[in-house]
Amino acid sequence: MGRPKITVVGAGNVGGTTAQRLAEKDAYDVVLVDIVEGVPQGKALDISQAGPVCGYSTRVVGTNGYDETAGSSVAVITSGIPRKPGMSRDELLTTNAKIVKSVVTELVSRSPDVILILVTNPLDAMVHVARSATGLPKSRVLGMAGVLDSARMRTFIAAELRVPGPDVEAMVLGGHGDTMVPVPRYTTVKGRPVSELMSKERLDAIVKRTREGGAEIVGLLKTGSAFYAPSASAVAMVEAIMRDQKRVLPTAVLCEGEYGLKNVVVGVPVKIGRGGAEQVMEYELTADEQAALEVSANAVRDLCATVDRLMA
Ligand code: NAI
Ligand code: 2OP
Repeated sequence: MGRPKITVVGAGNVGGTTAQRLAEKDAYDVVLVDIVEGVPQGKALDISQAGPVCGYSTRVVGTNGYDETAGSSVAVITSGIPRKPGMSRDELLTTNAKIVKSVVTELVSRSPDVILILVTNPLDAMVHVARSATGLPKSRVLGMAGVLDSARMRTFIAAELRVPGPDVEAMVLGGHGDTMVPVPRYTTVKGRPVSELMSKERLDAIVKRTREGGAEIVGLLKTGSAFYAPSASAVAMVEAIMRDQKRVLPTAVLCEGEYGLKNVVVGVPVKIGRGGAEQVMEYELTADEQAALEVSANAVRDLCATVDRLMA
């Protein structure tokens, strides 16, 4: 018996760093897939060659096909294109939806037990597309966004209070976009609510910066979007699954009544273990928090209706 296999589709910024972080765990076989010839092969070789220096012996395979992915336990899907000048959101939505649909179909045909972690944007809609395309149960189609958005909030709070980031817990719910719902009430430093530790103005500013966290990095990089924290977040989800950690991580999953939300993919706290999204954890929300979550869910609903119409 070899090591469990993790596939990463898309060998760009997020996919490449995800493969690297997974290789460094020294616990999996890693397969990196991309449509561009040579790139997944080159990155796989490069990551392998870091092994003797870093002390891992992970087998990393790069490929333009799917046969090497057979028997994957988890697949992280980062393949897609960014929005180009002159391209509408709808065009981006359809292009990435077509990519995700074909990728997950190829993956599942060779790995019937795989758990999918979607990263491609627009994130919540891509989880919806992956579910529709594969018919997999909702427990096996997860979206990464909340771990990242919460990590951003944790970082900003840690810097403000001069405490270590890992000591800060934060919960960001809702869709991965302008309507995301950071929940300061569930944001704590070593158990102390953050509202006791800073002024409302500072906290409001951090909530706003968290909502705009992706755009802030795009504005700085100019030619791409964030990938270090996104890949770290995706790998945290892979580890929660593979090590059966039962960690509660904000995850985009199909809600079927949880939080009063029906048939919509949205970010909620989810217990993640070997079964994938094992249980949606229902935290008590105030009326304002619930209303904000519903606004966010409705924004995702509209996007999913658009993708369904454009793909029909
Ligand atoms: P990138 O452009 O560096 O990489 C994307 C890769 O996908 C490219 O190498 C491209 O060749 C590949 N690709 C395109 N079509 C493909 C196909 N049919 N099969 C296999 N590979 C294909 O982009 P980056 O920065 O890695 O971002 C990837 C995606 O992740 C984007 O949609 C981005 O918006 C999203 N993202 C989502 C985050 C989240 O929180 N959910 C955070 C960061 C990025
Ligand atoms: C981010 O939040 C682009 O969704 C990506 O950085």
